[in-house]
Amino acid sequence: MCGIVGYAGPRPLKGVLMGGLRRLEYRGYDSAGIAIERDGELQLVKVTGKIQELENRIAGMDLSGSVGIAHTRWATHGEPNDLNAHPHTGCDDRLALVHNGIIENYHALRTLLLERDHRFTTETDTEVLAHLIEEHLENGKDRTLEDAVRLALQEVDGTFGLVVIDQHHPGKLVVARRGSPLVIGVGENENFVGSDASAFAEYTRDIIYLKDDEIATITSSDYSVRTLQDEARDPVVEEITWELDQIEKGGFDHFMLKEIHEQPQTVEDSMRGRVFPDQCEVKLGGLEDVHDILASAERIIFTACGTSWHACLVARRLFEDFVRIPVEVEYASEFRYSRPVFTPGTVLIAVSQSGETADTLAALRLAKDEGISVFGVVNVVGSTIARETDAGVYLHAGPEIGVASTKAFTSQVTVLSQIALLMGRLKGTLSKKRCEGILHEITRLPEKIRTILNQTDSIIEIASVFSKVNNALYLGRGYNFPVALEGALKLKEISYIHAEGYPAAEMKHGPIALIDDDMPVVVLAPGDQVYQKVISNIEEIRARKGRILVVATEGNETIRELATWVIHIPKTLDCFYPLLAVIPLQLLSYYVAVARDCNVDQPRNLAKSVTVE
Ligand code: F6R
Repeated sequence: MCGIVGYAGPRPLKGVLMGGLRRLEYRGYDSAGIAIERDGELQLVKVTGKIQELENRIAGMDLSGSVGIAHTRWATHGEPNDLNAHPHTGCDDRLALVHNGIIENYHALRTLLLERDHRFTTETDTEVLAHLIEEHLENGKDRTLEDAVRLALQEVDGTFGLVVIDQHHPGKLVVARRGSPLVIGVGENENFVGSDASAFAEYTRDIIYLKDDEIATITSSDYSVRTLQDEARDPVVEEITWELDQIEKGGFDHFMLKEIHEQPQTVEDSMRGRVFPDQCEVKLGGLEDVHDILASAERIIFTACGTSWHACLVARRLFEDFVRIPVEVEYASEFRYSRPVFTPGTVLIAVSQSGETADTLAALRLAKDEGISVFGVVNVVGSTIARETDAGVYLHAGPEIGVASTKAFTSQVTVLSQIALLMGRLKGTLSKKRCEGILHEITRLPEKIRTILNQTDSIIEIASVFSKVNNALYLGRGYNFPVALEGALKLKEISYIHAEGYPAAEMKHGPIALIDDDMPVVVLAPGDQVYQKVISNIEEIRARKGRILVVATEGNETIRELATWVIHIPKTLDCFYPLLAVIPLQLLSYYVAVARDCNVDQPRNLAKSVTVE
């Protein structure tokens, strides 16, 4: 949430900063701004709206200088407008600051600062930081910018990823982090900072992940990292693990469509070198050192948010089936403020695409503080959740830029299946023969996903009908109930059509009252264990003249008698139907949103990587 980019070096500032902002636009897009320092003077521009508005505003302006910062915002405090956009300044405009996170005690700080004659011009929490830093700079003779930032941050409760420039400290960026990600890009005679490495990946592949409570000073020729308690740190320079073309659209109209189509590859990548059907083996390097913990685990708690939470719901069934121990799935935002009872042998698994979701991070910290073993299933390499878990497995799905999560979901389910299989074998609850069959089938899934993607034309036709409705109901049972939730979430978040996911049999306990011509029903009815039960639910909808889109297994032609529309998916094992059934629902949402002329990759009010609670 909120994208930050900063640069110190000889390249034209405007190009580097605006290029970086464009790469980070998925993190927020309600307003944007840029500030540069040239010869001890600051220049600042900020506008409401998307980054294009900022581009238009600064076209033709000379924004050359030695250092600069830029920000794309997802509003928390104060509506999106020119004033509330970042960068923010203090009273005398000597410094400029960009911030991601929330200053929780901003109200108290603002009151104190007002009493000390500071004048505020915005409704943001961030502005107090600018005034505090300014005050510390002015109160201490010869005080360095890093010392002023450090002193200011000692007064602050909350989360921050921030970058500050000051006209009296030319050529310098001061960067600090608590709870909101920041990555330093190390170049030759130039250095960068960004909310993630995509902001500067075309210039350098050497990066340093700033850790919580660290502060860095960056110039074009140097960088140093210390703690907020002023202890020196020796940062590790790592390398970006993905290629530049992975963060480009590659000929697709939207990132979401590209990411949907990447799934045969990303599902394969998430099991590459890990799954050995002939040896009946699952090798997950990240979990090798904790096999004893997995083997003796007596209970699993999954925690996540949004789409990742849906992947955990699928995992619950997988783990109950293969591992035969109790499994709970918790919304991280609820779990973090609960008083969970951790019985001996409890293992917590945090699932997150970004690895930065604030609630998921807080949930895992809660468990960790109680001495619970905490594992992660994360996509973004080096992210905070990846670093704070005791062990874990990466998805290897590559960067996911579309705000609506697609390929992360299928990779999460694939990886979670592998962990369940591994645990089943370690515990002896899954026979070798059954495991072998499941492993052979998992390797066939990429090809099966490919065949669904080939049905796009018929899905576009169905989407044109759905694009005109105001409501939709998604139903599934067993393994496919979470897919119903995920299908409904995809539709509402990018097309703004109200949609609900329900366990199919629950429909008659309430939602059935809603069924009419304006409320099509999507029913997941693959040929699994509960197929006949789902058919009864379809009959109940037909009896009320509802229009029904059925996702059924290839070869099931009789279903056409009951359905208005049918999408076929290949046959697989019950436990893998979610990986196939979700694909047409992703495509449906995408094409509905396109038909309604919605901004697919940047849906209103949303942003990727929810780093505030
Ligand atoms: C929906 C979506 C969100 C995320 C959620 C968790 O399409 O993208 O619901 O799934 O914000 O994000 P991560 O997985 O990054 O923790």
